[in-house]
Amino acid sequence: RNSIESQTERTLAMIKPDAFKNMGKIINAISQSGFLISKLRVAKLSKQEAQEFYAVHRGKPFYDGLTDFMSSGRICALELVAPGAIRKWRELIGPTDSNQARAEAPGSLRAQFGTDKTYNACHGSDAPDTAAEEVAFFFGPGRYPGKCDLARGTTL
Ligand code: TYD
Repeated sequence: RNSIESQTERTLAMIKPDAFKNMGKIINAISQSGFLISKLRVAKLSKQEAQEFYAVHRGKPFYDGLTDFMSSGRICALELVAPGAIRKWRELIGPTDSNQARAEAPGSLRAQFGTDKTYNACHGSDAPDTAAEEVAFFFGPGRYPGKCDLARGTTL
C-alpha cells in the first residue's frame, strides 16, 4: 500500500495500429516523461472488441471507420502510473486531430506519429472512471481481448 503504484493515478494508454511500428520510440517517450509502465500487452483487436472499447461513440459518423482502423493491426495497451497520469498522458499525446497537433503541439506524439483525426497514433483515457474501465478491458480478471488463441489458429 505504500508503493508508488498505490499513491498515484493510473491511466490506460494505447499505441494504435498506425503507430505500432513506432512502439519503441513511443515507449521511450513515455519513460522519459516519468511514467511507470505497470502493465503492457500487445494485441490485435477483433472488430467486435474495437466496437466494445469505443462503445461510447456508437452511432457517431466516425464509429465504423474508427473501429475498422482499430481492428486493422496490432496495438500495444499500457497501464501508466504517475501523479496526474490521466491528464499528463493526454498532454503528451496532444489534440485528437494530428494535423491540429502539428500546429499547436508539435512535440506531441500525435503530431509526430499520427496522420489525421482518425489515424492519430495513440489513445488516452479521459477521466478516472473511464481509465478504470479501460484498464479492466485489457487487464481485468478473465479479460483477454485480442487473444492469441493457438488452438483456433488466431495469431497476432
Ligand atoms: P475522442 O474521444 O473525441 O478523442 P480522444 O481520442 O482525443 O479522446 O474520439 C475518440 C477517437 O475517435 C479519436 O481518437 C479518433 C476517433 N475520431 C474520429 O475518427 N473522427 C472524429 O471526428 C473524432 C472526433 C474522433
